[in-house]
Amino acid sequence: MASQTLLLLLFLSSLHQIASLETLIYEGFDENSEISREGSSIIKTSHLLKLTNRSTNIVGRAFYKTPFQMLNQTDPQPYAYSFSTNFVFSIVSPNSGSGGFGLAFTIAPSTHFPGAEAGHYLGLFNSTNDGEASNHIFAVEFDTVNGHKGDADSEGNHVGVNTNGMESKITEPAAYIEEGTATVKDDFRMAKVDAVQAWIEYDGEKKTLNVTIAPWELPRPSTPLINNYNLDLSNVMKENMFVGFSASTGQETSSHYLLGWSFAVNGVAPSLNSSNLPNPPPKEEDPSSFPWVQVAVAILSALILSLLCLLIFLACCKRYMDFEVLEDWEKDCPHRFRYKDLKLATQGFEESQLIGVGGFGAVYKGVLPTTGTEVAVKRIVRSPFHGMREFAAEIESLGRLRHKNLVNLQGWCKKKNDLLLVYDFIPNGSLDFVLYNPDNNFVLDWGQRFNILKGISAGLLYLHEEWEQVVIHRDVKTSNILIDGNLSARLGDFGLARLYNHGQASHTTNVVGTIGYIAPELTRTGKASTKTDVYALGVVLLEVVTGKRPLDSDQFFLVEWAIENYHLGQLLEVVDPKLDSVYDAEEVELVLKLGLLCSQHRPDYRPTMKQVTRYLNFDDPLPDTADWGHFGSNSSSRMNSGFLEVTSSLRTVETSGYLSSISMSTKSMDAGR
Ligand SMILES: *[C@@H]1O[C@H](CO)[C@@H](O)[C@H](O)[C@H]1NC(C)=O
Ligand SMILES: *[C@@H]1O[C@H](CO)[C@@H](O)[C@H](O)[C@H]1NC(C)=O
Ligand SMILES: *[C@@H]1O[C@H](CO)[C@@H](O)[C@H](O)[C@H]1NC(C)=O
Ligand SMILES: *[C@@H]1O[C@H](CO)[C@@H](O)[C@H](O)[C@H]1NC(C)=O
Ligand SMILES: *[C@@H]1O[C@H](CO)[C@@H](O)[C@H](O)[C@H]1NC(C)=O
Repeated sequence: MASQTLLLLLFLSSLHQIASLETLIYEGFDENSEISREGSSIIKTSHLLKLTNRSTNIVGRAFYKTPFQMLNQTDPQPYAYSFSTNFVFSIVSPNSGSGGFGLAFTIAPSTHFPGAEAGHYLGLFNSTNDGEASNHIFAVEFDTVNGHKGDADSEGNHVGVNTNGMESKITEPAAYIEEGTATVKDDFRMAKVDAVQAWIEYDGEKKTLNVTIAPWELPRPSTPLINNYNLDLSNVMKENMFVGFSASTGQETSSHYLLGWSFAVNGVAPSLNSSNLPNPPPKEEDPSSFPWVQVAVAILSALILSLLCLLIFLACCKRYMDFEVLEDWEKDCPHRFRYKDLKLATQGFEESQLIGVGGFGAVYKGVLPTTGTEVAVKRIVRSPFHGMREFAAEIESLGRLRHKNLVNLQGWCKKKNDLLLVYDFIPNGSLDFVLYNPDNNFVLDWGQRFNILKGISAGLLYLHEEWEQVVIHRDVKTSNILIDGNLSARLGDFGLARLYNHGQASHTTNVVGTIGYIAPELTRTGKASTKTDVYALGVVLLEVVTGKRPLDSDQFFLVEWAIENYHLGQLLEVVDPKLDSVYDAEEVELVLKLGLLCSQHRPDYRPTMKQVTRYLNFDDPLPDTADWGHFGSNSSSRMNSGFLEVTSSLRTVETSGYLSSISMSTKSMDAGR
């Protein structure tokens, strides 16, 4: 800390003359420092040079022991040499009152000032010699109180330039000039900041003076506070001058400290490295309030603090108990919800919030406390999944799917054995409910039905072909299609069927889907594809036109029934009687034929979703039935055998029993599964 160096450099400035350039630098002080002290000034073990303590009317001085040559005598007209200094000081004033008096960087012919007074004379002058040219004293004062009455320096907390007396030639309120400006001055109280850094520079040739100050942690401003002030020190300086500091107190008192100091004649004073300086002195406590008030305040704040800590600790415990402990991989899932929020949203999974029940769990309506948005929360109570990490990755991926005809999966959350899936809330319930519920008096007209079918196709097309990877829905059916406020279709539960298989031993792979919508090849191979989705869509197309379920009893099979009517040349006979014959026959015929095309026995005879949407929009004409593979062959025996195969395979699947647990049976409304 107290690294101190004195560099005395001598070098040639011209061929015939020797000029001296002398430099000193102190970064902290100790007993070995070449400093002569007078009055109250002491060097502390903390390497601070303390000029005054808090006694009233005292003076403390510290000067470098050796004088500097400050005047060029070789000239017939002697002139003062250039000099520069940089120092860091600290003023500790009482909490109440402004403190006083001040400290001054001083250049004087002697280190002794007999008869000089404290207070506003700063230990440099007295009332008799104040202002006399014979003093030969130059000083830059840093005061925290008003100077003596009648002075120009009527303002406290200021910087003033003085020669031979206490009447300042120029003063400026202490301020930091903001960088990049020459005029924006941030006033600051020198006694309130930890320490102040000052730079004083005098140009002997141009006879100008600069004084710059800054709170010590701030960089040096490029514009000085006292800038290019014209000052001729030729008559003030003597040949040999001492440089140092004088400080005083008056009725008001402050402690004045010096942390570091450098000085140079005819050169630039070295910069002080703030990391080498001693710590500034601590700001003093107000002595008047010391023993009782402060002790009481300390005890009280300690009590309050410990109470607060206890409360925070309890709150943390509560939080910890409320939440599952997150594994590392869980923290990176943007779609992960907080269990607490979902619990709050559904009023603690309250019965009144229930909107649907199924084999795996229940669906609750909820309002997210954070955003106020309505959601549907599907709660799968005993999670059948094992590989949670893979599951989460899959959910995260599904969570990024966004389409106006999908029930968007907003996120998920797991707590112990509870798995929660959060979906958009869709108000009108499922298409299944709208079509078949006997309590529902509302009948969809043809335009609405056609629009719903187009929406379903657009949603499936997005899943199959328009997203970054192919998503097979695996469970397209009317109870998985929700109807929103605009009577548009929203596909729900996409991709989830695959998730249900996660963690199942591979040799027991279950066929997933819902009876009536399962393509024949799926029952044989167990492999879902985009074509098995198209098959299920074909069934949905027929359902929406006919208003009949895919299988109603052991005797009725919707697809078979439609084909029969087609071959009898009375396809329009199958149209839902609730439509009261009010429909666009061309559209109805298109949808019926497309339903048959999609639900063909062989997957390669079925169109892709791209083609389906083009047919529905009349972009492409439906291919002639003669080109429809075996369906168009008109061989009723082949056709019948094909459908026999389908129906028998349906019965096979029925016995597995697993499927019914996947498709959720709806209670009243079926929103948001
Ligand atoms: C002193 O003044 C003379 C005449 O102006 C000049 O030549 C010389 O360099 C000065 N000496 C120093 C040390 O500046
Ligand atoms: C302040 O310094 C003076 C002079 O060195 C000394 O007499 C006085 O006791 C000191 N006062 C305090 C409060 O330390
Ligand atoms: C003022 O200072 C001068 C010189 O330092 C001294 O001779 C004189 O006695 C002092 N006057 C008083 C009133 O102390
Ligand atoms: C004082 O500061 C100004 C910049 O504001 C600069 O041009 C001038 O050289 C400085 N004078 C001294 C003596 O450093
Ligand atoms: C300041 O001093 C520290 C420690 O001695 C040193 O690491 C650093 O480089 C110095 N900074 C400058 C600008 O000299």
